[in-house]
Amino acid sequence: MLKGRDLLSIHELSVDEVHEIIECAAKLKAMQKAGVPHRILEGKTLGMIFEKSSTRTRVSFEVGIFQLGGTGLFLSSKDLQLGRGEPIKDTARVLSRYLDGIMIRTFGHERIVELAKYADIPVINGLSDLLHPCQVLTDLLTIREHKGKNFRALKMAYVGDGNNMTNSYLYGAAKVGMNLTVATPKDYKPNAEVFENAISDAEETGAELTWTENPVDAVKDADIIATDTWASMGQEAEHDERKKIFAPYQVNGELLKNASKNAIVLHCLPAYRGEEITDEVFENNAHVIFDEAENRLHTQKAIMALTMAD
Ligand code: CP
Ligand code: NVA
Repeated sequence: MLKGRDLLSIHELSVDEVHEIIECAAKLKAMQKAGVPHRILEGKTLGMIFEKSSTRTRVSFEVGIFQLGGTGLFLSSKDLQLGRGEPIKDTARVLSRYLDGIMIRTFGHERIVELAKYADIPVINGLSDLLHPCQVLTDLLTIREHKGKNFRALKMAYVGDGNNMTNSYLYGAAKVGMNLTVATPKDYKPNAEVFENAISDAEETGAELTWTENPVDAVKDADIIATDTWASMGQEAEHDERKKIFAPYQVNGELLKNASKNAIVLHCLPAYRGEEITDEVFENNAHVIFDEAENRLHTQKAIMALTMAD
């Protein structure tokens, strides 16, 4: 039962709840495409706090709450008193008096945990340095559409930086029983605690979660390959150094020769062509990658509907 709950991490969801979100997203997508009204959050208001930039998260949450019959408020931390040092715990208690839900994108994950602790309305993680659950739930919907519902029969590879996307892929794969191999340089592995938690979550579903330093080994016979930027928001100063370190981890035509014949490539976007992905691979998979971008809308509508509806 997701009603009234926060969505901070896929780890905190049960296996059934992960499937419930994906199924609900697929239903809401079909309803929207068929023009069937679904104003499940009539009159509700979502506050959207951004301490980092965004294109997809901002637009898809704002359009999503609107399509559900509610209103979204864009709250840049530059404009909020939060940006001038008002404590997050006070912000949480004030916003809880006005709003029906809060989405927050920030740096340290502990800021989201603190906000959720003090808010008495659902809090949704719109990305932290540690996790990006909305994107990975979206990617699971996209995989379901392109590769079918039987996640347990699929093999996924993630190649690149062990970042917030990687951490959330580990949690997501564990919950749906999909095998996932992560290839990163050894100093850029996914978060160790997340990896341990995900391996323990995977005992329920039988997902095999592994790490390798070798991208070719990871991609071997994979049905899905995902990558992400080599320098996440907040790591801009390391960009040039990272470009050199991650060069062997580029998702390119040569690497994909090792994958399964009909493999798809996912990218959460924004993409940096010529770095983590070549223009050729990106454009060959553009039909999947832009479905993935669209699916943020449907998945987040499901998350809002399930957590915020009366
Ligand atoms: N993928 C993603 O979260 O995109 P934005 O940074 O544009 O929101
Ligand atoms: N890892 C990236 C994801 C962007 C959606 C970042 O945190 O910048």
